[in-house]
Amino acid sequence: MPVTNFSLEDPFEYLAGFNAWHQTETAPGIIPQGTTFLQKGKYGVYPERVSGTSFTVPRKDSKQTFLYRLLPSTCHDEFIEAIDHPFNASFAHEALNFKPNQSMWAPIQITEEDDFVTGLRLIGGAGEPTMKKGVAYYAYTAGKSMPKNQAFDSADGDMCIVPQKGTLDIRTEMGNLRVRPYEICVVPRGIRFHVSLPDGPARGFILETFAGHFELPELGPIGSYGLANVRDFEVPKASFVDTDEDTELLSKFAGTLHRATYRGGIFNVAGWHGTYYPFKYDLGKFNAMGSISYDHPDPSIATVLTCASEVPGQAVADIVVFGPRWVVFENSFRPPRYHRNTMSEFIFLVKGSFGPEPMPAHLEGMFGLSNTMSAHGPSAATYDHATSEELVPQRIDEKNMGLMFESCYQIGTTKWVDTVPTKMAASPAGTANLQKVHIPE
Ligand SMILES: [Fe+2]
Repeated sequence: MPVTNFSLEDPFEYLAGFNAWHQTETAPGIIPQGTTFLQKGKYGVYPERVSGTSFTVPRKDSKQTFLYRLLPSTCHDEFIEAIDHPFNASFAHEALNFKPNQSMWAPIQITEEDDFVTGLRLIGGAGEPTMKKGVAYYAYTAGKSMPKNQAFDSADGDMCIVPQKGTLDIRTEMGNLRVRPYEICVVPRGIRFHVSLPDGPARGFILETFAGHFELPELGPIGSYGLANVRDFEVPKASFVDTDEDTELLSKFAGTLHRATYRGGIFNVAGWHGTYYPFKYDLGKFNAMGSISYDHPDPSIATVLTCASEVPGQAVADIVVFGPRWVVFENSFRPPRYHRNTMSEFIFLVKGSFGPEPMPAHLEGMFGLSNTMSAHGPSAATYDHATSEELVPQRIDEKNMGLMFESCYQIGTTKWVDTVPTKMAASPAGTANLQKVHIPE
């Protein structure tokens, strides 16, 4: 750290910077100068626009991109519900189960026959994509790449994809990204992508937000830099595949997968410019902040990206990272204290542990949900250790990485996740042996 030492190189080139108006073309003149829509584009490229916000939102929030492609997006037949696809079967329009509990699960098995789309499983969520309000949390496991001529998109929201195991090569309409464990990637609503596996089986988690878009958190008194820095976000350069082989489009719309056939290759964008695009970020570059005097700070200090709600300061979803850092606060109870929060917390472990206390290696990939106001905190053993250990500076090294999706919503869980065999005991069981305090008269 501060840059992750990845075992697998990234072969792709990127533009740098979050929220900039980027432009990238595969040959000079693809992007017209002095106008957006030439009467006829260079080589005859078709102009197209994709909007991620309504046209009239404040300029600072506007997300619009202009594409120049070999064929427009319209060249497909009618979308039909993909009722035979495992994705729809796994969702089965089931009602979510809302419970005021903390729940924990050990890692789920990777099914070798699945690809990124067939291996998507809805863990839980809240709200309604048709009203553009709410979130969805997924686990994915994949043992193979998606079929070559297939593309997926979600018309329901932006997807933040977090690999826990295995690398994803994500070809998008705007270009290619390689996303490895310790990196995160966001593919915005409606942007088509294909996932292949350059490094074996893969497992990870996805946060989909039905409302708004991910933004960097305000820094307040921290100042003008720190946490996730603007220049460390990487945006793909334009790259296209010229093929006459048709593409199977798989589009998630209102929570259901639909299928259509597109004439030729959908990844045919020869140039683009705008503010609406996928991006990735190396969590190793996160500039962690924390207490250098006393008391465990609130986890909001570790927010990488946030998606705002209508309430100032209250997130639809925060993406929070617990990675390498020093723990130095003095005369303090260092683990997260027992707590009940109005924000729900979905945590998962990429590697090692969330904090100074080591965790068994077989738990890498575990995940858990502490719902709105569900009580949770350290186990009895952790409490005993934390209240008796000598408080010396502790370094949580680069072998450790955990994340949290924090949301203002109560999260319902699916029948699938409530019945997976890896369900584990949670905080109530872990604190059953705590001694009751006696205050002398
Ligand atoms: Fe918590």
